[in-house]
Amino acid sequence: MNASIRAVARTAAANDLSRISAANAAFLRRPGRLLINGEWIGAAGGRTFEVRDPSSDAVIAHVAEGDAVDIDRAVQAAREAFEDSQWSRMKPVDRERLLHRLADLIEQHADELAELESIDNGKSVLMARHVDIKHAIDVWRYMAGWPTKLEGQTLPVSGNLIPGQEYAAFSLREPVGVVGAIIAWNFPFLLATWKAAPALAAGCTFVLKPAEETPLSALRLGELVLEAGFPKGVFNIVTGMGPTAGAALAAHEGVDKITFTGSTEVGRLIVRAAAGNMKKVTVELGGKSPAIVLDDADLPTTIPGVAGAIFFNHGQTCSAGSRLFVARRHFDEVVEGVARQASSIPLGPGLDPNAQMGPLVSSVQRQRVMKLVNDGLSAGAKAVTGGKALDTAGYYVEPTVFTDVTPAMAVVREEIFGPVLVAQPFDRIEDIARLANDSIYGLGASIWSRDVGKVFRLAGKLRAGSVWVNCHNMLDPVMPFGGYKQSGWGRELGREAVYSCTESKSLCINVTG
Ligand code: NAI
Ligand code: MG
Repeated sequence: MNASIRAVARTAAANDLSRISAANAAFLRRPGRLLINGEWIGAAGGRTFEVRDPSSDAVIAHVAEGDAVDIDRAVQAAREAFEDSQWSRMKPVDRERLLHRLADLIEQHADELAELESIDNGKSVLMARHVDIKHAIDVWRYMAGWPTKLEGQTLPVSGNLIPGQEYAAFSLREPVGVVGAIIAWNFPFLLATWKAAPALAAGCTFVLKPAEETPLSALRLGELVLEAGFPKGVFNIVTGMGPTAGAALAAHEGVDKITFTGSTEVGRLIVRAAAGNMKKVTVELGGKSPAIVLDDADLPTTIPGVAGAIFFNHGQTCSAGSRLFVARRHFDEVVEGVARQASSIPLGPGLDPNAQMGPLVSSVQRQRVMKLVNDGLSAGAKAVTGGKALDTAGYYVEPTVFTDVTPAMAVVREEIFGPVLVAQPFDRIEDIARLANDSIYGLGASIWSRDVGKVFRLAGKLRAGSVWVNCHNMLDPVMPFGGYKQSGWGRELGREAVYSCTESKSLCINVTG
């Protein structure tokens, strides 16, 4: 490829917050508190932290900064609520009704939640409405169906060890207890849902530590949980920093299971902290997912597909298709098509309905992404398009496509978590699984092809928790999601997510007459 594709001159404005809904304007004026035992309270230490609009860097709210003392209170409230018969003995149908009531409330407030998510995270309000909140409603409803279906089994024991005795045996599925959740900022409401919905469906109680960059929609969710009528202490929220509130939750002896979404680096800390009381662990961590275009792919649908795989949510997606591998004969055409698409994505603040890509979540994230982009440029990678941050107060980064990369470069190896794609050609289909698997991560992968035999053989060789064919980042409440290798332990969504919030108990009764 010769020509570089220059982006259209980019200026990206900030949100006009004078035009937001009255409901959100009022919400932003309310002080952000902790939700502990059904009450909204300030942090024990009296501290608060600032929440910023990524499109302008302006402070839009102040939220309580909880720490270990507040975590301890929240865990105690969750423990009491777990032991309390109101929750643990609630009939499964009644638990289902409560979960559906919450889903209804979320649906009624969907536009307002999407607006809040957009202001807090920077993502497009339309995307927030039609992906984040829509999917979250589906997940609440799917999980609402589980309480009446958490069946055990009747076990045909022989009781061979002591002759003459007869037994009846069963397995029961019981809630694991208090579940602690620490989540990231890329899909704040959706991740809170992925963690809370299966825990509550299983009959657990819950303590959430949202990301410090994006605490707002979780707090609004807390209000809706109370409005739905969940008993006090079942759902608690402690906003605060990772190394204080987060670390205290991960280490707390009163927590039976910890579930985390974020960086692999912090994931390792969570696993270590969990060892103290051997709490159960689910961790959903980083990714560097390949999108693989075979020589028989349908290019008109593949090109926008692989562009969407990386640029969706500004590349701030754990399963983003950030490494593009293309059969050599299509390489130039696909890269040029993706680069053209990248260069024409309108950047703008989340509330602008014409903007398709917003700012990154924080100035720290912009710095991280730009450091990796600049490392790539100095190592000799070529930016076919993009490669720069915008010169604005908002945290905008141009959608970027790199070619001329080598497998050792940081841009190829490290999770960038921004709108940055590295494209590489390949010659032999025999080599592609090895190239695609050459990563410490194994979260997702996509294959673009019309040959079902090739697809099936390759899918079996990819070391990834999700393999998508002629699509990427396809999520559904019924499909388990999670990682091989250093992308994590356990699965979100589906039956596996609910089961991960349960213990199995074997019940054996001597029925000898
Ligand atoms: P992070 O892993 O530091 O933060 C995620 C959550 O962990 C936040 O709630 C944070 O408060 C908490 N946390 C931080 N330190 C903690 C500790 N010592 N103990 C307990 N909790 C702690 O992620 P960060 O700094 O926001 O992003 C860094 C990089 O991580 C990103 O550039 C990206 O590569 C990756 N990342 C991956 C995500 C994914 O979905 N797989 C999501 C977010 C980040
Ligand atoms: Mg961090």
